[in-house]
Amino acid sequence: MSEFRWHRKDLLGLRTLEAVEIRHILDTAKSFQDVSLRSVKKVPALRGKTVANLFLEPSTRTRVSFELAEKRLSADTIQIQKTGSSMVKGETLKDMCRNIESLKVDLVVMRHSFSGAPFRLARHLKASVINAGDGINEHPTQALLDMFTVLEKKGKIEGLNITFIGDILHSRVARSNIWGLTKLGANVTVCGPKTLIPVGIEKLGVRVTYDLNEAVEQADVINLLRIQLERQSESFFPSIREYATAYQINKNVLKRAKSDVVIMHPGPVNRGIEITSDVVDGPYSVILDQVTNGIAVRMAVLFLLCGTAGTETEE
Ligand code: CP
Repeated sequence: MSEFRWHRKDLLGLRTLEAVEIRHILDTAKSFQDVSLRSVKKVPALRGKTVANLFLEPSTRTRVSFELAEKRLSADTIQIQKTGSSMVKGETLKDMCRNIESLKVDLVVMRHSFSGAPFRLARHLKASVINAGDGINEHPTQALLDMFTVLEKKGKIEGLNITFIGDILHSRVARSNIWGLTKLGANVTVCGPKTLIPVGIEKLGVRVTYDLNEAVEQADVINLLRIQLERQSESFFPSIREYATAYQINKNVLKRAKSDVVIMHPGPVNRGIEITSDVVDGPYSVILDQVTNGIAVRMAVLFLLCGTAGTETEE
């Protein structure tokens, strides 16, 4: 474990984290990994702390993973979703969160469809805030668990060719991964239809290709992103069928890949669109390992924010 001492109040994104902070989270996650393998899957690290999980946009993996991580650290937890909360009666997010804070909550985990919502919240709350995905901006714990999984499967991140294929434009997962992976020395490539690659993304230090074969041949790791139809108000490609014809990862496309390529996907997977079922369930896929690793990574983040006296708020 590194000598570095955590000092931040919140985890809002990887854009503002230093490489040393990212490495410290990954090292801390490693030390929590075996808790989930014990017969009694619990440690007292957050006993007496209260965590509110505020999920105002649908989620399966992230919500369940945070809840399990909190329980494994012995925290008390409350769950708030949009339906069933007073937001449907017109209460503002800020008012709701100030009310939650008066209940002496120590930490708020927040997913929201608006980019920047957790940043705003963090400025108003004394409690720590973790961004569990905000609009198309960032999904830091997903990127951290992706990096943890790469380290587990490849033994390193520096120097690896890591390629993201799909809807980069609407992907908070891609954005957080790009910030994190480039800081740790990976060579990041993004691939997809021109309309789904943000203009100027090269400025973040990534390579762009529109050619799937080229992207696949060079990759040590391929991280697939689904087409986020729920965030699209216009047509970015002619049809799902045409998208799949040009950019789907299937057995034939993988014939061009390195023999030890690793296939990742943050989920939810749209089988038959960005990836075929035989690849999802095949030997190169580590998609379920990513889900398992999410618990240790989220335990690490919760522990660092809640278990130490962080004071600095990000702008
Ligand atoms: N990867 C991810 O964020 O999945 P959920 O939307 O199910 O949480």
